[in-house]
Amino acid sequence: MRGLSLALVGVVLAGCGARVPEVPASEPISYAAHLEPLVIARCLGCHEAEDPEAELVLESGRGFAALVGSRSVQAPSMALVSPGEPEASYLWLKLEHRAPHGKGMPRTLTGSKMLPPAELELYRRWIEGGARP
Ligand code: HEC
Repeated sequence: MRGLSLALVGVVLAGCGARVPEVPASEPISYAAHLEPLVIARCLGCHEAEDPEAELVLESGRGFAALVGSRSVQAPSMALVSPGEPEASYLWLKLEHRAPHGKGMPRTLTGSKMLPPAELELYRRWIEGGARP
């Protein structure tokens, strides 16, 4: 039973994963153009407008404002995203599974799973490059 549900989770994730865009190193990462499709594919199941987990709404057109400049509810001394500073960004700690509260993101029905390296890298570049809209 457990094996079956794990397999189903795998199929669902593979089925809804967005393609990771290849952005040349010279080009800055934009939330709307590059990151938001990945966020929507991976995170919306739990961070939708109706009853969002951790009060975080990542729906289309709302995720940027929710992340950049907002405080974490779990660690109120930290910003969710501090432009230019991944280590000062609670989102980054959650994605690297190093946050002091809750689980690593994205969570799954059975625990939590680390994003593929190419996706993590895009989040890091986005924050380091100033977290542009
Ligand atoms: C299966 C449900 C689920 C999915 C999918 C999910 N989350 Fe979460 N998220 C939660 C829950 C539950 C919490 C609060 C408990 C915890 O941290 O484990 C949370 C908390 C967070 C927090 C902390 C918010 C704060 O203010 O402290 C961040 C940031 C976050 N999620 C980002 C993401 C991102 C980005 C994704 C997609 C890559 C994602 N989550 C996918 C369920 C989910």
